Amino acid sequence: MKHNTERKWWKEGVVYQIYPRSFQDTTGNGIGDLQGIIKRLDYIQSLGVDIIWLNPVYTSPNDDNGYDISDYRNIMAEFGTMDDMDELMTQMKKRGLRLVMDLVVNHSSDEHEWFVESRKSRDNAYRDYYHWWPAEKGTPPKRFSYFDEDSNAWKYDEPTDSYYLHYYSAKQPDLKWENPKVREEVYDLMKFWFDKGIDGFRMDVISTISKDVNYPELPEKYKGDFIPYYADGPHLHEYLKEMNQKVLSKYDVMTVGEAPGVNQEQALNFVDEDRKELNMFFHFDLMSLDREPGETFKMRKEQWKLTEFKKVFSEWDGVFAQKGWGSLYLNNHDFPRSVSRWGNDSKTHWQNSATLLQTFLLSMRGTPYFLYGEEIGMTNIKFDSISDYQDINTHSRYKAIKKAGGDLETFLKEEKHAGRDNARTPMQWNTQHNSGFSEAKPWLKINENYKEGINVAEQEPEKDSVLNYFRTMVQVRKDHLALVYGAYQLLLANNELVYAYLRSWEDERFLVLLNFSTKRSSVTIDEVRFDKAHLIISNDDAENNKIDNHFELTPYQASIYKVF
Ligand code: GLC
Repeated sequence: MKHNTERKWWKEGVVYQIYPRSFQDTTGNGIGDLQGIIKRLDYIQSLGVDIIWLNPVYTSPNDDNGYDISDYRNIMAEFGTMDDMDELMTQMKKRGLRLVMDLVVNHSSDEHEWFVESRKSRDNAYRDYYHWWPAEKGTPPKRFSYFDEDSNAWKYDEPTDSYYLHYYSAKQPDLKWENPKVREEVYDLMKFWFDKGIDGFRMDVISTISKDVNYPELPEKYKGDFIPYYADGPHLHEYLKEMNQKVLSKYDVMTVGEAPGVNQEQALNFVDEDRKELNMFFHFDLMSLDREPGETFKMRKEQWKLTEFKKVFSEWDGVFAQKGWGSLYLNNHDFPRSVSRWGNDSKTHWQNSATLLQTFLLSMRGTPYFLYGEEIGMTNIKFDSISDYQDINTHSRYKAIKKAGGDLETFLKEEKHAGRDNARTPMQWNTQHNSGFSEAKPWLKINENYKEGINVAEQEPEKDSVLNYFRTMVQVRKDHLALVYGAYQLLLANNELVYAYLRSWEDERFLVLLNFSTKRSSVTIDEVRFDKAHLIISNDDAENNKIDNHFELTPYQASIYKVF
């Protein structure tokens, strides 16, 4: 039997990602909080989504907005208390919503008590919880760091005359998974949350937890692109299997690993059901499409092409055609807003390109993940000045370029398309002060286009709004299991304007037509009989433009037909 038609709630569910800092402030400090999410649960339920993925809400000094955790069993004071968390879970359960938390265990905060102890002395009980290199051995072999302005992942620490490893900022020391005690700590904290009743984990950079603890020189071939090296640690799959056996297998939960550096050949090693590791993971092939090779955040010169976009999705669909299961996303808190990147955020095309992208994600095989605000078509903010950015990633790259005497103007220009803060601006609820997000000055500027229709309140009553289209399209997916489990067949592979595919399951077949362009585009589809084609949904008046098997699509038109 093909594994991937086996029905599971996490395959049929639609995920809604919340960046808590930016969702809804209820305390008047300009920062979103758990009570804010509780306040908006009816809205979330009204979208038809099933699962909320919450970015980290644990205690953290916020060097990287919660991705630096100093207490895994407590809630960040700015966000609320454990009582708020319990209330959130109760209120979600009432509404049939499931909760997926972020599990950030490649590293902790340097303020976590494990690290506070670890750095005290070389024979401290927690010493071996982290990766240390004694200075008498000389300078450790080069490791790159994402958030260090010198891209140096080793930081010298005076008290013990040693260096510690941090793939991210110096305040995010990497945990040493090779130490069985560390693994037990992680499993314990996972159980703590599962026993509280959460439904799964999104596992932060889980592909990089296993390291070669001899810390050899980085092999030459990885010097231009170290990410695949980080993702290919010697014991990675041993650890994931152990985690599954000791924790995951005991609960009905979903897991999705964030997996930079994992390629198509390696994919099933993570999610083949027989291996008992994870359910899904996020690959980075789409996210790196418009970037320089080996660079996660640096824009490439040429525009991305639709054929490249189709290739990513078609190849990855093929990887999971028999086994495993895919995850589908067009943006998240680390990558710019989907409509600004893959659609078109100009006044003319914003609406239809936003709904086209929704149609796309909700008609592909795999579990779709939407970022808060994507349902109303929120766009990149495109800051002009470095002082507007809050993100450590933007600031560290800015400092590095400045130090090297590089071109800061170009950097800032590119950051309008690449910067992570584009995806983190406060939720646009209404046209009132600060878009209804907060009474106080928000921690990150709000996109002014909340005054121009990109907000929930104005879209709510409009029949054809991006918001209401989203709701309808979620329902279309729910009504037709073929859109979840059906086989995917790409049509018109070489067409640079139109993305067309079939989804077939049992005796149902659907044709999806997406005009990814600002031009009217006509296509001829030979694979189906159109005399009986039946329109299921469209963001435009599609029926009028169809003659036999020939279609005229308006700019960014998206239509789905039931075909025979
Ligand atoms: C992941 C997170 C990102 C964070 C990084 C370090 O990539 O998605 O936001 O900065 O890990 O934890």
